[in-house]
Amino acid sequence: MSRFSYLLSLTPLETWRLLRRRLPVLRNGLAWTAGELLSSGKHSRGIRFAELLLRQEAVVRRHMPWVPLDYEGKRVVEIGCGPLAGFGPLVIFCGAKSFESAEPEWDPALLSSPVVIDRYLRVFHADLVSLYGPRMDFEAFRAALHERMEIHRTGFERAPITGTVDIVLSQSCLEHVFPFEETVDKLAAIQGPKTRFLHLVDFGNHYPTVSPFEGLYGQPRSEYIARRGKAINLLRAPDVAKFFADRGIRARVIPSRVVAGDGGKIHPWWRERYDDSALFTQLALVAGPAE
Ligand SMILES: C[S@@+](CC[C@H](N)C(=O)[O-])C[C@H]1O[C@@H](n2cnc3c(N)ncnc32)[C@H](O)[C@@H]1O
Repeated sequence: MSRFSYLLSLTPLETWRLLRRRLPVLRNGLAWTAGELLSSGKHSRGIRFAELLLRQEAVVRRHMPWVPLDYEGKRVVEIGCGPLAGFGPLVIFCGAKSFESAEPEWDPALLSSPVVIDRYLRVFHADLVSLYGPRMDFEAFRAALHERMEIHRTGFERAPITGTVDIVLSQSCLEHVFPFEETVDKLAAIQGPKTRFLHLVDFGNHYPTVSPFEGLYGQPRSEYIARRGKAINLLRAPDVAKFFADRGIRARVIPSRVVAGDGGKIHPWWRERYDDSALFTQLALVAGPAE
């Protein structure tokens, strides 16, 4: 589907949602509503965070030794958890001592609204019980979320999250942060030698086009960013690896989806800096240490 036919296929609500996210002038407007979240195939399924972790850890294990993340008694941080607390409910259910996140769009009223409690958290809890066992009942789960989760409505780089943490996660967030340097500086500040981390980075255009790279490489990076209003930073996997290494964070960057290019024009700015593997890695995991 071309980007144009995709736009034509949207309902008015979907068009409004897309515009709000894409146009800089609207980006600081209304936050999500419960109705939007519960009608979203992505946001309405809390258990997708467990599915993501199971798949991502399996991919990492194919490339390096990797003991599954264990949240029991751990201090867990997520960058950009999204509107319904992201990995928070999962890690708290699995025994984390605390979950902290920084999410510029955070609205605490959403997760405590009756409709989200009944149609999101209750189902998420039931799915967690099936997957990890009856660790806590629903009322204990809600109390634990209230007591052990702290989400700051700000960029991660400015968040009052200090001291060494045990585990850092992010899901499709690092490609959206500006400037990236400040985010990795902040990561370095809360990183100890034993801090484990797993970040999924999506290097595609974030549109449902046939090629996930459609439109990205026809102009230099800065032109694309200016045109699209800082929606994605367009760093490629080797850039991410270098930023981590420059700050002394030993990370493996593991491609988890590499797709062929679409034959579209690639501006020399990209060809002079990146090889095909960097240009056509759509998803990568940034992981470390093994245990
Ligand atoms: C594609 S969404 C992913 C949300 C969530 N991780 C998920 O998978 O549902 C990217 C998120 O990054 C957040 N974000 C953007 N800049 C950020 C920053 N500087 N610090 C923390 N989060 C940020 C956005 O508000 C948005 O919720």
